[in-house]
Amino acid sequence: MTRRVQYTQNGDIDQLHIAEAESPAVGPGQVRIAVRYAGLNPVDLAVVGGAFGEATGPKGNGADFSGVVDSVGDGVTDFSPGDLVFGGRPHRTQTTHLLIRDPDERLDTIPPGLSTEVAGGLYITGRTAVAGIRALSITEGETVLVTGASGGVGIIAAQLAANLGARVIGTASEANHALLRSLGIESITYGEGLEARLREVAPEGIDAAFTTQGEDELARLLNFDIPAERINSIGAGPQVADTYGVRIDGEAAAGRGDLAWLAKAIAYGHVHVPVARVFALDEVQNAYRFLRDSHPAGKVVLRLDAAPLNEEQRRFLGH
Ligand SMILES: NC(=O)c1ccc[n+]([C@@H]2O[C@H](COP(=O)([O-])OP(=O)(O)OC[C@H]3O[C@@H](n4cnc5c(N)ncnc54)[C@H](OP(=O)(O)O)[C@@H]3O)[C@@H](O)[C@H]2O)c1
Repeated sequence: MTRRVQYTQNGDIDQLHIAEAESPAVGPGQVRIAVRYAGLNPVDLAVVGGAFGEATGPKGNGADFSGVVDSVGDGVTDFSPGDLVFGGRPHRTQTTHLLIRDPDERLDTIPPGLSTEVAGGLYITGRTAVAGIRALSITEGETVLVTGASGGVGIIAAQLAANLGARVIGTASEANHALLRSLGIESITYGEGLEARLREVAPEGIDAAFTTQGEDELARLLNFDIPAERINSIGAGPQVADTYGVRIDGEAAAGRGDLAWLAKAIAYGHVHVPVARVFALDEVQNAYRFLRDSHPAGKVVLRLDAAPLNEEQRRFLGH
């Protein structure tokens, strides 16, 4: 049997519940994953809320995952049972058994040095950060602002900019400043007085900005004489491209290969992705409340465990 997070009508976090179903059968060209970790993203709650369409029946939830291949269909040559893999499948991944119909598009092998826990929360944030930072064409010595630098996207984006040789200023809650400092990011708090704080820490100006918040924040940053094409906004909606001429390169701008590239950068230690907290599948509602209300630094992930040990591992322990 498969256990999965689902909702049957639009609404808030309390619509999410656990349902059971037959495990999906693997067809030709398909891969089935025993999911181990599934990351949470703010967009999941917008989907449940109905921002992307009305739920007319049971809907799955979640877009990120990591796990172990447990069976492959005829014709699959790149993946075998036992492979550690990660990737994404929008509106589906918070399930113990996940069917991937197009493994060449959606699956990557987890490289040595990257944990399944971190890999399970990378699909949306990682691809967004890579595409978003690439769009800014950052060069060595520039001063770059990353807002929401303690969040899932921002913490990766800020480190990528720092790796390009930029001086990176990140906004975050005070409680997350020490972590950001440890990653080489200078931190300031967001909210009231942001402009004054920015002018104080960067009197010479800001060369480029990666902004993760709404249009209010973006409008405030436009006072800093940053060329519009060097502002990338991923949180304010697509209309800001026309309104202000800024870039809106987020997840949709990511290419095949970006996630695998980031996975290696993390495995090599160039980028650190903290997992703020891991929740059991049954705790899915609390996990989303924690993500929404507790200002976690880095990712929040669900742990799923269809079969905690495989047969070989059980035999080993039994002797
Ligand atoms: N366009 C795209 O392709 C795309 C893709 C992914 C995400 N997004 C959007 O990007 C945003 C960030 O995503 P995420 O996954 O990084 O979210 P997240 O993990 O929840 O992080 C949120 C970040 O925003 C900061 N923050 C919270 N309240 C704030 C406020 N009032 N003013 C300024 N900063 C505030 C948080 O700081 P503290 O926790 O330190 O307080 C944290 O750094 C979301 O709106 C998401 O929907 C867009």
